Amino acid sequence: MRYLIVSDMHGNSDAFAAVLDQTAGEDFDVTLVLGDLVGYGASPNKVIEQVQGLTRTVFVVRGNHDKVVAGIDSGEHFNQAARAAAEWTTAALTADNLKYVLELPQGPVAVHAGLAICHGSPLDEDAYVFSEVDAFEIFSHHKVPVTFFGHTHVPSIFSIHDNSIQVLALRGDGSLRLEPGGRYLINPGSIGQPRDRNPRAAYMTYDEAERTVHWFRIEYPIEMAQARIIQAGLPSLLAERLALGI
Ligand SMILES: [Fe+2]
Repeated sequence: MRYLIVSDMHGNSDAFAAVLDQTAGEDFDVTLVLGDLVGYGASPNKVIEQVQGLTRTVFVVRGNHDKVVAGIDSGEHFNQAARAAAEWTTAALTADNLKYVLELPQGPVAVHAGLAICHGSPLDEDAYVFSEVDAFEIFSHHKVPVTFFGHTHVPSIFSIHDNSIQVLALRGDGSLRLEPGGRYLINPGSIGQPRDRNPRAAYMTYDEAERTVHWFRIEYPIEMAQARIIQAGLPSLLAERLALGI
């Protein structure tokens, strides 16, 4: 089985289109969507339609921004720009797309017995997994061998072998062969709002037979996503940060 893994598109259809174009000719069986389809960016309807238009089998979970936009969470803990964007997105979505966001499943979702997806942590969909301490807590309770997660917008791989944790901060393009007997928490990074000071859209692929994860960064027309944000009247900070990858 071959997987395409996408996360945190955040209403940035220009970045997501670049990833879909780049991978269109490749032979994937399943697409894994790790949440935060909307929020921040100015093309939330388009991103939902891009997800709905995926021709492969799709597994999807909701993100924290999806929850606030849908009214499941209040967003009181969001900063001002994030809250303004969530309110704008709620108003901008069509009724059908708002219903779609409202009904996105809560993670973790099992793809099969050995593979799961979630937005934040498999123990708490809203929790951030940044450190080996966060990962150790998860590995202590969550026994699925391979879990893909999003939320931090930082491409990374946490693994555990014989009670020893390893953390890889991923830069640029690369690949890793997963070791039998290890367990893995894998974050592809963000398509629509990277935060590792690299503005290129981040995504991953996973070849289950080869046990190999590949990670990629690709350019997209950032200025188009920025122009849409400014034109929509969203906070200009949200446009500026796209060029900086923060
Ligand atoms: Fe996010």
